[in-house]
Amino acid sequence: MNRKLIAGNWKMNLNVKESVHLAKTVAAGVSNLKDPNADVLICPAFLSLEQCGKTLKDSPVMLGAQDVCANDEGAYTGEISSAMLLSAGCEFVIIGHSERRKYYCETNETVNLKVKKALERGLKPVMCVGETLQERQDEIFEAIVGEQITEGLKEVSEDQLNFVTIAYEPVWAIGTGVNATPKQASDMHLFIRRKLSQLCSSGTAEAVRILYGGSVNAKNAKEILAAKGIDGALVGGASLKAEDFLTIISAC
Ligand code: 13P
Repeated sequence: MNRKLIAGNWKMNLNVKESVHLAKTVAAGVSNLKDPNADVLICPAFLSLEQCGKTLKDSPVMLGAQDVCANDEGAYTGEISSAMLLSAGCEFVIIGHSERRKYYCETNETVNLKVKKALERGLKPVMCVGETLQERQDEIFEAIVGEQITEGLKEVSEDQLNFVTIAYEPVWAIGTGVNATPKQASDMHLFIRRKLSQLCSSGTAEAVRILYGGSVNAKNAKEILAAKGIDGALVGGASLKAEDFLTIISAC
């Protein structure tokens, strides 16, 4: 069984001052837990990363970004490179979140370019996959997620897979208050793990952490995190409230 990872995706919320305050509160809360049963990651907006990185300097709480450019540097107005994220103290980066796929037209191909670039530069990608409600109703969710996994991880070596985390986030469960049942999530995690084992040895596939995301909150976290094959959670809304986020961490 993998050590759990609880990650907070703050999305486009909080200014720098508010982000630093929340980072500080989470870090203090995690220190108070003494020996938490999980690794903890927060992913603030780009603008707040550097200050949050400073705040987390002596804390076990890790820092991640919510996206990264697939290029190294140059004329890409508005983009942020892997090197910039590393210099701000990031260890992780979320890639291919469904909101980026939906609103910014990211495809499995762009996700793959970003994953490869992040790995090449020493960032750990949290690659998001998940089906829409229509795809679930049409019963093609395994085909969709399977393709997101194989296309997103194309040309990623077995060595590099050791630094990859997958987040299964069914689109219909994000921000809706309707979480996947532990059985639905568990079944998909087992499916994803089988897909991974087609790309690498079973040992490596077992060691890749697969997080569940979609309406995880302080009330349902325990049940979801106890389900088979679930190595943690990628939390949106509930990660903006320190108390709720700490409750989710304690549920591990
Ligand atoms: P919610 O927890 O707000 O449903 O968001 C999930 C998510 O998108 C995390 O990346």
